[in-house]
Amino acid sequence: MEHMNKEDIQSKGVCIIGTGSYLPERVMTNVDLEKLVDTSDEWIRTRTGISQRHIAADGETCSDLSANAARAALESAGISADEVDLIIVATTTGDRMLPSTACFVQDKIGAKNAFCFDIAAACSGFLYGMKVAKGMILGGTAKTVLVIGAEKLSSFLDWEDRSTCVLFGDGAGAVLFQAREDSRGIISGVMGSDGALANLLTVPAGGCEMPASQQTIDDRLHYVKMGGGEVFKNAVRCMCDAGQKVLDKAGLTIDDVACVIPHQANMRIIQAIADRFKQPIDKFFVNLDKVGNLSGGSVPVALDEAFRVGRVKKGDIVLFIVFGAGFTWGASLVEL
Ligand code: UT7
Repeated sequence: MEHMNKEDIQSKGVCIIGTGSYLPERVMTNVDLEKLVDTSDEWIRTRTGISQRHIAADGETCSDLSANAARAALESAGISADEVDLIIVATTTGDRMLPSTACFVQDKIGAKNAFCFDIAAACSGFLYGMKVAKGMILGGTAKTVLVIGAEKLSSFLDWEDRSTCVLFGDGAGAVLFQAREDSRGIISGVMGSDGALANLLTVPAGGCEMPASQQTIDDRLHYVKMGGGEVFKNAVRCMCDAGQKVLDKAGLTIDDVACVIPHQANMRIIQAIADRFKQPIDKFFVNLDKVGNLSGGSVPVALDEAFRVGRVKKGDIVLFIVFGAGFTWGASLVEL
Protein backbone atom coordinates (compact mmCIF):
# COMPACT_ATOMS: atom_id res chain seq x y z
CA MET A 1 0.00 0.00 0.00
CA GLU A 2 1.34 3.41 -0.92
CA HIS A 3 2.28 5.77 1.92
CA MET A 4 -0.66 7.86 3.10
CA ASN A 5 -0.74 11.02 5.14
CA LYS A 6 -3.14 10.46 8.08
CA GLU A 7 -4.33 14.07 8.13
CA ASP A 8 -5.16 13.90 4.43
CA ILE A 9 -7.27 10.81 5.01
CA GLN A 10 -9.04 12.18 8.08
CA SER A 11 -10.26 15.24 6.18
CA LYS A 12 -12.11 12.90 3.80
CA GLY A 13 -15.14 10.68 4.23
CA VAL A 14 -14.90 6.90 4.26
CA CYS A 15 -17.17 6.30 1.29
CA ILE A 16 -18.92 3.49 -0.51
CA ILE A 17 -17.27 3.31 -3.95
CA GLY A 18 -18.98 0.18 -5.29
CA THR A 19 -21.54 -2.47 -4.40
CA GLY A 20 -22.39 -5.93 -5.70
CA SER A 21 -24.48 -8.91 -4.72
CA TYR A 22 -25.08 -12.51 -5.64
CA LEU A 23 -28.04 -14.80 -5.05
CA PRO A 24 -27.86 -18.50 -5.92
CA GLU A 25 -29.86 -19.63 -8.94
CA ARG A 26 -32.26 -21.99 -7.16
CA VAL A 27 -35.41 -20.37 -5.77
CA MET A 28 -37.39 -22.14 -3.05
CA THR A 29 -40.94 -20.83 -2.63
CA ASN A 30 -43.19 -21.14 0.40
CA VAL A 31 -45.22 -23.65 -1.60
CA ASP A 32 -42.06 -25.77 -2.02
CA LEU A 33 -41.64 -25.67 1.78
CA GLU A 34 -45.20 -26.93 2.27
CA LYS A 35 -43.91 -30.23 0.86
CA LEU A 36 -41.07 -30.42 3.42
CA VAL A 37 -42.64 -29.34 6.73
CA ASP A 38 -46.08 -28.74 8.22
CA THR A 39 -46.42 -25.11 7.14
CA SER A 40 -48.36 -22.97 4.68
CA ASP A 41 -47.61 -20.16 2.28
CA GLU A 42 -50.24 -18.14 4.14
CA TRP A 43 -48.57 -18.64 7.59
CA ILE A 44 -45.11 -17.74 6.30
CA ARG A 45 -46.29 -14.65 4.41
CA THR A 46 -48.48 -13.27 7.19
CA ARG A 47 -46.07 -14.04 10.10
CA THR A 48 -42.85 -12.99 8.29
CA GLY A 49 -43.52 -11.33 4.90
CA ILE A 50 -41.33 -13.89 3.12
CA SER A 51 -42.55 -15.50 -0.14
CA GLN A 52 -39.38 -17.17 -1.40
CA ARG A 53 -35.66 -17.53 -0.76
CA HIS A 54 -32.59 -18.57 -2.79
CA ILE A 55 -30.80 -21.80 -1.88
CA ALA A 56 -27.18 -22.47 -2.89
CA ALA A 57 -26.26 -25.61 -4.83
CA ASP A 58 -24.58 -28.47 -2.92
CA GLY A 59 -21.04 -27.62 -3.99
CA GLU A 60 -21.53 -23.85 -3.83
CA THR A 61 -19.85 -22.43 -0.73
CA CYS A 62 -20.11 -19.22 1.27
CA SER A 63 -16.84 -18.06 -0.34
CA ASP A 64 -18.27 -18.77 -3.82
CA LEU A 65 -21.28 -16.56 -3.07
CA SER A 66 -18.94 -13.94 -1.60
CA ALA A 67 -16.53 -14.00 -4.55
CA ASN A 68 -19.38 -13.48 -7.03
CA ALA A 69 -20.66 -10.51 -5.01
CA ALA A 70 -17.10 -9.14 -4.71
CA ARG A 71 -16.50 -9.32 -8.47
CA ALA A 72 -19.70 -7.33 -9.06
CA ALA A 73 -18.61 -4.73 -6.48
CA LEU A 74 -15.16 -4.38 -8.09
CA GLU A 75 -16.81 -3.90 -11.47
CA SER A 76 -19.21 -1.28 -10.12
CA ALA A 77 -16.28 0.61 -8.49
CA GLY A 78 -14.13 0.25 -11.61
CA ILE A 79 -11.11 -1.04 -9.68
CA SER A 80 -9.10 -4.25 -9.91
CA ALA A 81 -8.81 -6.95 -7.23
CA ASP A 82 -5.14 -6.23 -6.59
CA GLU A 83 -6.05 -2.73 -5.35
CA VAL A 84 -7.91 -4.24 -2.36
CA ASP A 85 -5.88 -3.98 0.88
CA LEU A 86 -8.29 -5.71 3.26
CA ILE A 87 -11.10 -8.24 2.85
CA ILE A 88 -13.57 -8.70 5.70
CA VAL A 89 -16.25 -11.37 5.42
CA ALA A 90 -19.11 -11.04 7.89
CA THR A 91 -20.51 -14.55 8.21
CA THR A 92 -21.44 -17.25 10.69
CA THR A 93 -21.87 -19.92 7.99
CA GLY A 94 -18.37 -19.85 6.53
CA ASP A 95 -16.77 -22.57 4.40
CA ARG A 96 -14.85 -24.09 7.33
CA MET A 97 -14.09 -23.49 11.03
CA LEU A 98 -10.51 -22.82 9.89
CA PRO A 99 -9.30 -20.78 7.99
CA SER A 100 -11.40 -17.68 7.52
CA THR A 101 -13.77 -17.52 4.56
CA ALA A 102 -12.15 -14.18 3.65
CA CYS A 103 -8.94 -16.06 2.73
CA PHE A 104 -10.85 -18.29 0.31
CA VAL A 105 -12.46 -15.19 -1.21
CA GLN A 106 -9.03 -13.57 -1.61
CA ASP A 107 -7.82 -16.55 -3.60
CA LYS A 108 -10.98 -16.77 -5.72
CA ILE A 109 -10.94 -13.11 -6.78
CA GLY A 110 -7.14 -12.80 -6.99
CA ALA A 111 -6.80 -10.02 -4.40
CA LYS A 112 -3.17 -10.94 -3.74
CA ASN A 113 -2.28 -7.72 -1.89
CA ALA A 114 -5.03 -7.99 0.73
CA PHE A 115 -4.99 -9.20 4.33
CA CYS A 116 -8.13 -11.06 5.28
CA PHE A 117 -10.31 -12.04 8.22
CA ASP A 118 -13.91 -12.85 9.14
CA ILE A 119 -16.27 -11.17 11.58
CA ALA A 120 -18.71 -13.38 13.50
CA ALA A 121 -21.49 -11.03 14.56
CA ALA A 122 -24.37 -12.85 12.80
CA CYS A 123 -26.97 -10.50 11.30
CA SER A 124 -25.06 -7.44 12.57
CA GLY A 125 -21.78 -8.54 11.00
CA PHE A 126 -21.88 -6.29 7.95
CA LEU A 127 -22.33 -3.14 10.05
CA TYR A 128 -19.56 -4.23 12.42
CA GLY A 129 -17.38 -4.79 9.34
CA MET A 130 -18.19 -1.34 8.02
CA LYS A 131 -17.06 0.15 11.34
CA VAL A 132 -13.79 -1.80 11.19
CA ALA A 133 -13.28 -0.68 7.57
CA LYS A 134 -13.67 2.95 8.62
CA GLY A 135 -11.14 2.54 11.44
CA MET A 136 -8.63 0.76 9.17
CA ILE A 137 -8.90 3.46 6.51
CA LEU A 138 -8.77 6.43 8.91
CA GLY A 139 -5.89 4.80 10.80
CA GLY A 140 -3.91 4.50 7.57
CA THR A 141 -3.73 0.70 7.65
CA ALA A 142 -5.72 0.15 4.45
CA LYS A 143 -6.73 2.33 1.53
CA THR A 144 -9.34 0.10 -0.11
CA VAL A 145 -11.47 -2.23 2.01
CA LEU A 146 -13.88 -4.87 0.75
CA VAL A 147 -16.59 -5.76 3.27
CA ILE A 148 -18.74 -8.74 2.36
CA GLY A 149 -21.81 -10.03 4.20
CA ALA A 150 -22.48 -13.62 3.12
CA GLU A 151 -24.27 -16.70 4.36
CA LYS A 152 -25.00 -20.21 3.22
CA LEU A 153 -27.57 -20.73 5.95
CA SER A 154 -29.19 -23.65 4.14
CA SER A 155 -26.29 -25.86 5.36
CA PHE A 156 -27.13 -25.06 9.01
CA LEU A 157 -30.94 -25.22 8.91
CA ASP A 158 -32.89 -28.15 10.29
CA TRP A 159 -35.15 -28.90 7.36
CA GLU A 160 -37.46 -30.76 9.78
CA ASP A 161 -37.93 -27.68 12.03
CA ARG A 162 -40.66 -25.46 10.61
CA SER A 163 -40.01 -22.71 13.17
CA THR A 164 -36.61 -21.91 11.60
CA CYS A 165 -36.21 -23.43 8.13
CA VAL A 166 -38.86 -21.18 6.55
CA LEU A 167 -37.09 -17.99 7.64
CA PHE A 168 -33.64 -17.97 6.07
CA GLY A 169 -31.95 -17.96 2.67
CA ASP A 170 -28.51 -17.92 1.04
CA GLY A 171 -26.79 -14.94 -0.58
CA ALA A 172 -23.97 -12.42 -0.44
CA GLY A 173 -23.51 -8.67 -0.74
CA ALA A 174 -20.19 -6.82 -1.12
CA VAL A 175 -19.27 -3.18 -0.60
CA LEU A 176 -15.98 -1.40 -1.33
CA PHE A 177 -14.82 1.52 0.82
CA GLN A 178 -12.21 4.23 0.20
CA ALA A 179 -11.53 7.72 1.59
CA ARG A 180 -12.97 10.26 -0.83
CA GLU A 181 -13.68 13.98 -0.83
CA ASP A 182 -17.04 13.93 -2.61
CA SER A 183 -19.16 12.60 0.29
CA ARG A 184 -19.23 12.39 4.07
CA GLY A 185 -19.46 8.60 3.66
CA ILE A 186 -19.90 6.76 6.97
CA ILE A 187 -21.18 9.58 9.18
CA SER A 188 -21.79 7.81 12.45
CA GLY A 189 -22.36 4.38 13.95
CA VAL A 190 -23.46 2.73 17.18
CA MET A 191 -23.08 -0.92 18.13
CA GLY A 192 -24.08 -3.09 21.06
CA SER A 193 -24.07 -6.69 22.26
CA ASP A 194 -25.63 -8.74 25.06
CA GLY A 195 -23.97 -12.13 25.52
CA ALA A 196 -26.39 -13.03 28.33
CA LEU A 197 -28.96 -13.78 25.62
CA ALA A 198 -26.66 -15.93 23.45
CA ASN A 199 -28.73 -19.10 23.81
CA LEU A 200 -31.81 -17.57 22.21
CA LEU A 201 -30.28 -17.89 18.73
CA THR A 202 -27.48 -20.39 18.33
CA VAL A 203 -25.97 -23.43 16.64
CA PRO A 204 -25.11 -25.38 19.82
CA ALA A 205 -22.62 -27.99 18.57
CA GLY A 206 -19.51 -28.00 16.41
CA GLY A 207 -17.45 -25.57 18.49
CA CYS A 208 -15.05 -26.45 21.31
CA GLU A 209 -17.88 -26.37 23.85
CA MET A 210 -19.57 -29.32 22.17
CA PRO A 211 -17.39 -30.87 19.46
CA ALA A 212 -19.05 -32.99 16.79
CA SER A 213 -19.96 -36.51 17.93
CA GLN A 214 -22.48 -39.13 16.94
CA GLN A 215 -24.64 -37.85 19.83
CA THR A 216 -24.61 -34.21 18.64
CA ILE A 217 -25.56 -35.34 15.15
CA ASP A 218 -28.35 -37.60 16.44
CA ASP A 219 -29.64 -34.73 18.61
CA ARG A 220 -29.60 -32.35 15.59
CA LEU A 221 -27.41 -29.88 17.47
CA HIS A 222 -25.49 -28.66 14.42
CA TYR A 223 -28.51 -26.69 13.26
CA VAL A 224 -29.84 -23.19 14.02
CA LYS A 225 -32.03 -23.08 17.17
CA MET A 226 -34.06 -19.95 17.89
CA GLY A 227 -36.50 -18.76 20.53
CA GLY A 228 -38.39 -16.73 17.91
CA GLY A 229 -40.73 -14.74 20.17
CA GLU A 230 -37.97 -13.50 22.52
CA VAL A 231 -35.71 -12.68 19.56
CA PHE A 232 -38.57 -10.71 17.97
CA LYS A 233 -39.18 -8.55 21.06
CA ASN A 234 -35.49 -7.81 21.58
CA ALA A 235 -35.00 -7.06 17.88
CA VAL A 236 -37.70 -4.38 17.87
CA ARG A 237 -36.42 -2.78 21.09
CA CYS A 238 -32.72 -2.81 20.17
CA MET A 239 -33.22 -1.71 16.55
CA CYS A 240 -35.43 1.24 17.57
CA ASP A 241 -32.95 2.31 20.28
CA ALA A 242 -29.93 1.97 17.97
CA GLY A 243 -31.65 3.93 15.18
CA GLN A 244 -32.51 6.79 17.53
CA LYS A 245 -29.05 6.79 19.15
CA VAL A 246 -27.19 7.06 15.85
CA LEU A 247 -29.43 9.93 14.69
CA ASP A 248 -28.84 11.76 17.99
CA LYS A 249 -25.10 11.13 17.79
CA ALA A 250 -24.97 12.61 14.27
CA GLY A 251 -27.27 15.53 15.16
CA LEU A 252 -29.74 14.43 12.47
CA THR A 253 -33.41 13.46 12.48
CA ILE A 254 -35.26 10.75 10.61
CA ASP A 255 -36.40 13.48 8.16
CA ASP A 256 -32.78 13.85 6.98
CA VAL A 257 -32.76 10.19 5.97
CA ALA A 258 -33.72 9.30 2.37
CA CYS A 259 -34.05 5.56 3.00
CA VAL A 260 -33.84 3.15 5.93
CA ILE A 261 -32.28 -0.21 5.13
CA PRO A 262 -33.02 -2.49 8.09
CA HIS A 263 -31.97 -6.08 8.68
CA GLN A 264 -34.45 -8.18 6.72
CA ALA A 265 -35.72 -10.70 9.30
CA ASN A 266 -39.44 -10.12 9.53
CA MET A 267 -41.81 -7.59 7.94
CA ARG A 268 -43.58 -7.19 11.31
CA ILE A 269 -40.28 -6.08 12.90
CA ILE A 270 -39.73 -3.53 10.11
CA GLN A 271 -43.33 -2.27 10.44
CA ALA A 272 -42.88 -1.89 14.22
CA ILE A 273 -39.76 0.24 13.64
CA ALA A 274 -41.57 2.36 11.05
CA ASP A 275 -44.43 2.89 13.54
CA ARG A 276 -42.00 3.82 16.33
CA PHE A 277 -40.33 6.43 14.09
CA LYS A 278 -43.76 7.57 12.79
CA GLN A 279 -42.58 7.03 9.21
CA PRO A 280 -44.39 5.57 6.21
CA ILE A 281 -43.30 2.02 5.41
CA ASP A 282 -42.19 3.28 1.95
CA LYS A 283 -39.22 4.92 3.65
CA PHE A 284 -37.91 1.43 4.42
CA PHE A 285 -36.26 -0.67 1.71
CA VAL A 286 -37.60 -4.21 1.90
CA ASN A 287 -36.51 -7.26 -0.11
CA LEU A 288 -37.12 -10.05 2.42
CA ASP A 289 -40.20 -11.15 0.46
CA LYS A 290 -37.85 -12.35 -2.33
CA VAL A 291 -34.75 -13.46 -0.39
CA GLY A 292 -35.75 -14.25 3.22
CA ASN A 293 -33.40 -13.56 6.11
CA LEU A 294 -29.80 -13.56 4.81
CA SER A 295 -28.30 -12.77 8.24
CA GLY A 296 -24.94 -11.06 7.56
CA GLY A 297 -25.87 -10.82 3.88
CA SER A 298 -29.17 -8.99 4.41
CA VAL A 299 -28.01 -5.37 4.52
CA PRO A 300 -25.40 -5.41 1.71
CA VAL A 301 -27.69 -7.39 -0.62
CA ALA A 302 -30.52 -4.93 0.09
CA LEU A 303 -28.20 -1.94 -0.42
CA ASP A 304 -27.00 -3.23 -3.78
CA GLU A 305 -30.56 -3.84 -4.93
CA ALA A 306 -31.66 -0.40 -3.67
CA PHE A 307 -28.91 1.17 -5.83
CA ARG A 308 -29.77 -0.91 -8.88
CA VAL A 309 -33.51 -0.15 -8.78
CA GLY A 310 -32.86 3.57 -8.16
CA ARG A 311 -34.34 3.57 -4.64
CA VAL A 312 -31.13 5.24 -3.38
CA LYS A 313 -28.62 7.42 -5.21
CA LYS A 314 -25.35 9.26 -4.61
CA GLY A 315 -25.75 12.00 -1.97
CA ASP A 316 -28.63 10.27 -0.16
CA ILE A 317 -28.33 9.68 3.58
CA VAL A 318 -29.17 6.06 4.40
CA LEU A 319 -29.86 4.67 7.87
CA PHE A 320 -28.88 1.03 8.39
CA ILE A 321 -30.27 -0.79 11.46
CA VAL A 322 -29.42 -4.39 12.37
CA PHE A 323 -30.01 -7.03 15.03
CA GLY A 324 -28.87 -10.63 15.35
CA ALA A 325 -27.52 -13.55 17.33
CA GLY A 326 -25.23 -12.78 20.22
CA PHE A 327 -27.31 -10.70 20.74
CA THR A 328 -25.65 -8.07 18.59
CA TRP A 329 -27.13 -4.91 17.15
CA GLY A 330 -26.16 -1.63 15.59
CA ALA A 331 -27.08 1.31 13.39
CA SER A 332 -25.12 3.41 10.96
CA LEU A 333 -25.73 6.59 8.98
CA VAL A 334 -24.02 6.78 5.61
CA GLU A 335 -24.04 9.52 2.97
CA LEU A 336 -23.83 7.62 -0.32
O1 UT7 B 1 -32.11 -12.55 12.01
C1 UT7 B 1 -31.90 -12.66 13.37
C2 UT7 B 1 -33.04 -12.20 14.10
N1 UT7 B 1 -34.17 -13.08 13.89
C3 UT7 B 1 -35.35 -12.55 14.01
O2 UT7 B 1 -35.44 -11.35 14.18
C4 UT7 B 1 -36.56 -13.45 13.98
C5 UT7 B 1 -37.50 -12.97 15.05
N2 UT7 B 1 -38.69 -13.81 15.24
C6 UT7 B 1 -39.67 -13.91 14.33
O3 UT7 B 1 -39.57 -13.39 13.23
C7 UT7 B 1 -40.94 -14.60 14.75
O4 UT7 B 1 -40.90 -14.86 16.12
C8 UT7 B 1 -41.20 -15.93 13.97
C9 UT7 B 1 -41.56 -15.64 12.55
C10 UT7 B 1 -39.96 -16.81 14.06
C11 UT7 B 1 -42.36 -16.68 14.61
O5 UT7 B 1 -43.51 -15.84 14.63
P1 UT7 B 1 -44.41 -15.76 15.94
O6 UT7 B 1 -45.54 -14.90 15.63
O7 UT7 B 1 -43.49 -15.33 17.06
O8 UT7 B 1 -44.92 -17.24 16.07
P2 UT7 B 1 -44.72 -18.25 17.29
O9 UT7 B 1 -43.30 -18.71 17.35
O10 UT7 B 1 -45.31 -17.64 18.51
O11 UT7 B 1 -45.62 -19.43 16.82
C12 UT7 B 1 -47.02 -19.28 16.65
C13 UT7 B 1 -47.57 -20.61 16.20
C14 UT7 B 1 -47.11 -21.79 17.02
O12 UT7 B 1 -48.20 -22.69 17.12
P3 UT7 B 1 -49.07 -22.76 18.47
O13 UT7 B 1 -48.10 -23.12 19.55
O14 UT7 B 1 -49.65 -21.38 18.64
O15 UT7 B 1 -50.07 -23.81 18.16
C15 UT7 B 1 -46.05 -22.43 16.17
O16 UT7 B 1 -45.93 -23.81 16.38
O17 UT7 B 1 -47.14 -20.86 14.85
C16 UT7 B 1 -46.58 -22.17 14.78
N3 UT7 B 1 -45.54 -22.15 13.76
C17 UT7 B 1 -45.79 -22.39 12.47
N4 UT7 B 1 -46.93 -22.70 11.82
C18 UT7 B 1 -46.86 -22.89 10.50
C19 UT7 B 1 -44.22 -21.88 13.89
N5 UT7 B 1 -43.62 -21.96 12.70
C20 UT7 B 1 -44.57 -22.28 11.81
C21 UT7 B 1 -44.56 -22.50 10.42
N6 UT7 B 1 -45.72 -22.78 9.80
N7 UT7 B 1 -43.44 -22.39 9.68
